[in-house]
Amino acid sequence: MIFYFSGTGNSLYAAKYIANNIHDDELVNMADSVKEGRYYYALKPGETCGFVFPVYFGGMPSVVAQFVKKLRLSSDEVPYVYALVTYGGKAGGSVQALQIALEKRYVYLSAAFGVKMPDNYVIMYNPATEEKAQQVLREAETDLLTAATSIIARNNPGVPHTMLDTVMTAGMQTAYRMMRKTASFTVDNSCIGCGLCEKICPVNAIEMYDYKPVWIKSECAHCVACISRCPAKAIQYGDKTKKRGRYVHPDLQVKQQTE
Ligand SMILES: Cc1cc2nc3c(=O)[nH]c(=O)nc-3n(C[C@H](O)[C@H](O)[C@H](O)COP(=O)(O)O)c2cc1C
Ligand code: SF4
Ligand code: SF4
Repeated sequence: MIFYFSGTGNSLYAAKYIANNIHDDELVNMADSVKEGRYYYALKPGETCGFVFPVYFGGMPSVVAQFVKKLRLSSDEVPYVYALVTYGGKAGGSVQALQIALEKRYVYLSAAFGVKMPDNYVIMYNPATEEKAQQVLREAETDLLTAATSIIARNNPGVPHTMLDTVMTAGMQTAYRMMRKTASFTVDNSCIGCGLCEKICPVNAIEMYDYKPVWIKSECAHCVACISRCPAKAIQYGDKTKKRGRYVHPDLQVKQQTE
């Protein structure tokens, strides 16, 4: 069973890659579980359990934290549980944050993997260009293969981190809580009213009124899916995003075009 969360497709790709390679057929979207209040999951005998998600502010996305906080994982034996985090620059203390949260639910991490993937945080900086993204994605294939092989062999390469990472993650997570406000979202006239932003928001923070998105919650997960996947590049956050590029994993771009 693989629990995943993804805004712009990197972690979804990673979760699917691992699932295909280890022949695990159960992918669970943590955002859907939180929306539906589903927190009880049972592992089959011998089944591994993965948590795959992007690093946000050196730690876990809010959705992952909410999911793990209520998770009830049942298993007849001690399961092999792994974390696989995708990140643009540094994994920070994300794995340790997950580990602490899981232990409160009597779930114990056996292994952790970090995979550098294209940076997507358009709200803070210019995300990876297409050329850079292609290069990073090529390199990520090696890390994903290593992770899949290690999971099959039940190895634990670990994700390097220092005490400073743990301390910095605590501070950065405070910044994340303050940043997650939706008041700075706006929509340009270029919006074509397709409703994709409403459909893909993992926390149901967007509703369409008069063919335009309205942010109906004061906070969101800041996954940047709405900004990055809007086909008209119509969604902005503050005054910086208009001039910036957008990053979406190629598989998600293909999916969007065929929907
Ligand atoms: C809100 C937010 C915060 C982020 N913080 C970090 C960070 O602290 N360190 C880092 O290396 N990358 C950070 N990133 C980049 C993502 O972790 C990275 O691009 C990830 O692979 C995106 O995965 P996804 O496509 O599955 O959403 C951040 C991205 C977002 C949206
Ligand atoms: S995804 Fe973009 S174009 Fe579609 S409704 Fe939302 S803002 Fe408008
Ligand atoms: S409003 Fe946009 S950035 Fe916030 S959680 Fe929804 S899709 Fe992600």
